Parts: sequence; structure tokens; C-alpha cells
Amino acid sequence: MSVLTETTFKRIADIARRRWGLSLGERKMQLVANRLTSHLRKSGGGEIEDYVSRLERNPTEDDMLVLFDILSTNVTSFFRDPAHFAFLERELYTGLAKGTLALPGKRLRIWSAACSIGAEPYSLAMQALELLPPAAGYDVKILATDLANKALVGCREGIYTESQLSGLSPERRAKFLIKAEPKPGSGEPRWRVKDEVKRLVEVRRQNLVEPYTGLGPFDVIFLRNVMIYFDRETRREVVMRMHGVMRPGAIIAVGSAETLSGLDVPLKAAAPSIYLRS
Ligand SMILES: C[S@@+](CC[C@H](N)C(=O)[O-])C[C@H]1O[C@@H](n2cnc3c(N)ncnc32)[C@H](O)[C@@H]1O
Repeated sequence: MSVLTETTFKRIADIARRRWGLSLGERKMQLVANRLTSHLRKSGGGEIEDYVSRLERNPTEDDMLVLFDILSTNVTSFFRDPAHFAFLERELYTGLAKGTLALPGKRLRIWSAACSIGAEPYSLAMQALELLPPAAGYDVKILATDLANKALVGCREGIYTESQLSGLSPERRAKFLIKAEPKPGSGEPRWRVKDEVKRLVEVRRQNLVEPYTGLGPFDVIFLRNVMIYFDRETRREVVMRMHGVMRPGAIIAVGSAETLSGLDVPLKAAAPSIYLRS
């Protein structure tokens, strides 16, 4: 049986930190061992040690993305952390809809950074459709980015099982999704996000620790539940890069268990886990 030694785990952790900013503490060792073993079993066997040596020698970008898929966690849900959506309704949409607040060129640009399989960007799109009447004349675009293949595939597909839709009210489900073919194999019922919602969302690959070339400026950024995987230095670098693509006054939300305090970044706290660029 293939085993993961402490030394090999440290070599993997080193790759993960350099490439993706992920901080893999020793508590993750068992999880990584299980995931690597399962991956090797499915892809024809072999030793973890040999697999890691191959990745260190001359990996292709695809090899690296497979490792990222193995190491990353994509847990997400629709309308996760409802207080963030309530903040947008109160501080942004109400003013835009009434005309008491205006954005340059009547463009609203939102970035769901680390969007996982799409629950977050599609929730943002649903909210925009609900709260911004066509008469307000806004052009809304939501950029959804992630690095993981499984996230990008899921996000582009926009098809979800019953359990993945648990955060969505029955009213929203009826309004924004249509019944899709059941999940192959299990027969589990599934729903597809309607085209009117998908149309607002552009899906792209972006590694958050690489330059944000051609992105922005954004009015809203959701950077939620991803910084927990980064060390302090990487968090600061990522938030500073985000700052560089935010319009003055733009809103950034981080996960409810995350904070920017102590990172020394030029953002002003506006509500729990919500900050503004001054
Ligand atoms: C737990 S999910 C959070 C999803 C969503 N933001 C939410 O709050 O529900 C974390 C996501 O971060 C992505 N991720 C981790 N490191 C990344 C990196 N360096 N660049 C881009 N995405 C990354 C993972 O692929 C994963 O989909």
C-alpha cells in the first residue's frame, strides 16, 4: 500500500505554497494522504513518492491542476452568509434602483473570486435580477473565477442536485432554475440555472496568487472562504491585489470566519466581514 511520509507531505506542501499560496498544515496530512491514495487508485496505481517526484521534475500545467483539484476544498452554498447579500441590498441596490446612487457608465461589475461550482456567482446574479429593475438601465456583469477544474466545470454547467440547492428558497428555485436530467448513476434529481441568470455570469480561470491582468475595476468583490487556506503574507498580497482592481468606494466581502484586521491593508471595515475601498 502507498504511504505518505512526513517528508513527502512537506514536499507537497511546498508545491502548494509556491504555486497557489495554500498553507497545508500537518493537520491536513491524513486528508491529503487519503485523497492522493484515492487519486492514484483511480488513475492506475503507483506510489505517492513516485507521483510527487514526477510532479517536481517536469510537470505539465494539467498535472498541476490535477494536484490542485486533489488538495482544494470546494464547499459552497447558495446565498451563503446572507448578511453579505443583505448589505448589498441595503447599501447598493436600493440606491441604484431608486436613482439616489449611481455608478459610472451605469455599469455594475462584480467579481466572485474563488467561485467554486457557481453557487456564489449565481446567487449574486439572482439578487441583481431581483433588485435592479431593467428601468434602472444598468449593465450588470459578474465575473466568476476559480482555479480548480472541478469548480470551473460545475460553474459553467450550472446544474445542481437537491442537496447543493439547500440554501435556495423554493420561490427562487422556481423562478431561476428549471428541472434538468437526473444525475447519471444515482438518478438524483437536479436543476439547471436558467439562461437569464447565466447570461450575467462570465466564468474564467484565475489563480488568486498570480497577477489580475485585464480584470476590473470592480464595484463589488466576494473573496469568501478562500483566505483561510492562505498564510498571513499571502492573504495580505491577495487583498492588496484586489485593492488594485477595486473602484474607489467598492465593497469587498470575506468569509464570516475571516478577517482583514491586522493585515494592514487600506480598506475600511463597514460591517462584519465587509470592507470598503476609500
Ligand atoms: C471553500 S470554496 C469557497 C467558495 C465560495 N467563495 C463560497 O464562499 O462559498 C474555496 C475555493 O477557493 C478556490 N481556491 C483556493 N485557492 C485558490 C487560488 N490560489 N486561486 C484560485 N482559487 C483558489 C478553491 O478551488 C475553491 O473552489
